[in-house]
Amino acid sequence: MYSLLFKTVFARMDPEAAHRLAFGLIRLAARLPLVRGVIAARFAPRREELGVRALGRSMPGPFGLAAGFDKNAEGIDGLAMLGFDHVEVGTVTGQAQPGNPRKRLFRLLPDRALINRMGFNNDGSAAVGARLAARARRRGSGRPAGRTPVVGVNIGKTKAVPEEEAAADYVTSARRLAAYADYLVVNVSSPNTPGLRALQATESLRPLLGAVREAADEAVPDRRVPLLVKIAPDLADEDVDAVADLAVELGLDGIIATNTTIARDGLGLSGDPSIASETGGLSGAPLRERSLEVLRRLYARVGDRVTLVGVGGVTTADDLWQRILAGATLVQGYSAFVYEGPGWARKLHAGLAERLAASPYATLAEAVGAENRKAEAA
Ligand SMILES: Cc1cc2nc3c(=O)[nH]c(=O)nc-3n(C[C@H](O)[C@H](O)[C@H](O)COP(=O)(O)O)c2cc1C
Repeated sequence: MYSLLFKTVFARMDPEAAHRLAFGLIRLAARLPLVRGVIAARFAPRREELGVRALGRSMPGPFGLAAGFDKNAEGIDGLAMLGFDHVEVGTVTGQAQPGNPRKRLFRLLPDRALINRMGFNNDGSAAVGARLAARARRRGSGRPAGRTPVVGVNIGKTKAVPEEEAAADYVTSARRLAAYADYLVVNVSSPNTPGLRALQATESLRPLLGAVREAADEAVPDRRVPLLVKIAPDLADEDVDAVADLAVELGLDGIIATNTTIARDGLGLSGDPSIASETGGLSGAPLRERSLEVLRRLYARVGDRVTLVGVGGVTTADDLWQRILAGATLVQGYSAFVYEGPGWARKLHAGLAERLAASPYATLAEAVGAENRKAEAA
């Protein structure tokens, strides 16, 4: 059904316009309580056995929507209605900004991939904070909550802010947004903001994470908001290790691996070469192997001391299960949502439940990193 809709409607539209239309429909459906209930019952049935505890929260499952889909926190409840256990909003920057000129989002259909150079188009942390505050008020006033996804807030640097002032820009956003975040992510890995990825170097990352930690603690004195960092798949292995060591040293709560890649070589891209050569970050199936490799490397280094979130090319329940065995407590996806449609999370949950039942593990928590433990035991 969705594949027909995709082929006949969405694939013929400009990808960004298709995103706007699809997301608009999701939000509209979520606003109508009856419709929302019917859709949630179909797409987001609870499966007790998939419940996880991570980042200080209980979640109905390990699978969430990665950052970038809901940049402005406009559709959290609609996305939960479709079965995402957590929704990471953003990237939100200190100031509102339009992002790069269009066209800036491209599909590589045969590769089940996307290339984007959106450039953090977003309403800015003041407006997004106000939106999240309004949502919190609505929910506080007894509106039926339905499924309550865990909400991550991903923050990044405003393009116009010079690199030397990056930390202050992140701090501005952290102050405005931490109160509404179940967890906060420092994004230093998008390829579309000049200079951003240089912040992954430990000498820049250490003070940046320290400043954001402090800002979150000041803004939310009664709760320790978990802090994570999101890294690029293009880091050299020794730089992945350096981030892992820094995360342990700083007592960081988690690492999200990975963002999109600037690489094109060796990814077996079979789609239109003129699209493959567009500037931007590549996501989807071709990213799967490298993201998994980075995750394995991180788990080998940090073990259970830091919560790992696996993202990049996750498409099937096998991919999701593989990330968990490789060390991810939580898993996210974005690109395959575009190709698979609204039933995607449900399909992954059903497949994951089957794999768990067929495994020697009683819970998902037991399965996290099992592959690494097995390798050590051998
Ligand atoms: C159109 C688009 C926009 C994105 N925007 C962001 C963003 O604003 N912040 C961020 O941290 N990641 C962003 N991402 C990266 C995703 O969160 C994810 O890390 C990446 O796409 C790999 O996952 P996937 O292969 O499942 O798509 C974006 C991805 C896409 C496709």
